[in-house]
Amino acid sequence: RSMATSLARHKIVVCTDLGPAAPLLTGRDDLDVISWTENRSCDRAWLLRNIVGAAGVVVCFQNAVDRELVDAAGPALRVVSTISVGHEHIDLKVMAERNIQVGYTPDILTDAVADSAVMLALMASRRAGQSYSFVQNNQWPSFYWTPFAFCGPQLSTTPFSPTRTVGFLGFGRIAHAVLKRVAAFGITHCIYTPRPGAADQSVRDVRLRDAHGLVSVAPVDLLTLARESDVLFVLAPGGATTRHIVNSEFLRQMRATSVLVNNGRGSVVDSAALARALADGWIWGAGLDVVEEEPQVGSDHPLVREPRCVVLPHIGSAASETRAEMATLTACNVLAGVMGEPLPVAIDY
Ligand code: DGY
Repeated sequence: RSMATSLARHKIVVCTDLGPAAPLLTGRDDLDVISWTENRSCDRAWLLRNIVGAAGVVVCFQNAVDRELVDAAGPALRVVSTISVGHEHIDLKVMAERNIQVGYTPDILTDAVADSAVMLALMASRRAGQSYSFVQNNQWPSFYWTPFAFCGPQLSTTPFSPTRTVGFLGFGRIAHAVLKRVAAFGITHCIYTPRPGAADQSVRDVRLRDAHGLVSVAPVDLLTLARESDVLFVLAPGGATTRHIVNSEFLRQMRATSVLVNNGRGSVVDSAALARALADGWIWGAGLDVVEEEPQVGSDHPLVREPRCVVLPHIGSAASETRAEMATLTACNVLAGVMGEPLPVAIDY
C-alpha cells in the first residue's frame, strides 16, 4: 500500500471562495476538499448533499448551520469554521450537543469595519450619496454653487458647536475602534447601552474616556441613547434578542439632525420604520452596510429610494488585507478542527 492510501483522509466542504488562503487546504494527501465554485452564495441543497461524511465545513454568515445540516453531515463532523465574526447563523446549542468546535474571525476585521462605519457616518451626514448621484446624473453643469446647497450636520466639533455625542448600540471591539476614530473629530461624549446583566464597566469607561480625551463615556438606557446621540452606531449582533430594537418608537425619540449607522446586522433595525423616519424628517440621515431584507434589496427598496440614506451591500470588512487574513484564519480553524486540535480562534460556547 502506498503512503497516500494508508493516511486517514478528512473531508472538508468549503462553501465559499477562500482566495489566497485556498491553497492551505488543497493538494494535501490527508484531505478531500469539496468547494462551491460559483460566484454567489452556496445553495443549501448543494451543501446538504455534499456535507455527508464531512469532518469540517467552511461557511459564511448566509449559510445556516443547524440541526438539519449537522444531521446530514453525520457523526464525522468535528468543526464548523465561519468566515465572519457574527455567528447567529450557527446554532451553538446543537454544536455543544454534538461536541463540534466552531471557529470564527473576530479581531482581524475590527479595524476594517470601524473604518467603514466612520465612512458611512460621514457619507450620511454630509449627503455624499445624494451629491454623488447629482454629478452622476449630469446635473453639475446647470448648478450654481450656493452656500447652503448639500449641507448636512458636521461630525466634527466647531468653536460654536463644541460638543458632540456619539452613541453605540452594541459596545464591543468594533465600537471601541469606532470611538477611537471619532475621538479625532473632537467628539466629547460617548453613550452606550450595556448588554442585559453585564458587569459594571465604570473602570473601563474611565480608561476609554481618558485615552480618547473625552468628557464622558457612560452607559444609558435605550431612550436616552435615542434622544442624546448625534451619531448612533448600531453594532449589535443579530438574532431574536436584538430584532427591531431600532423601531418607530426608538426613531421618534432621535434628533432631527441625528444620523444612524448600521454595521451590525440588518435585523436590529426595522427597515419600514427607518424609511418613515427619513421621509418624515425624524432623523437626518442613515448609513447602512446591512439591511434586514438583504440580499433582496433592489433599487425600489424604500431605504434605497430615500435620498438621505446610503446603502452599501454588506462590505464592512471588505478590505483586501482583512479579507485575506479572515480567509487564512478560517482555513487554519477548519484544518485544526479536522485534525482534532484546538482551533486558533474558537467560539467559547
Ligand atoms: C461578519 O464578519 O459577521 C460580517 O458581517 C461579514 O464580514
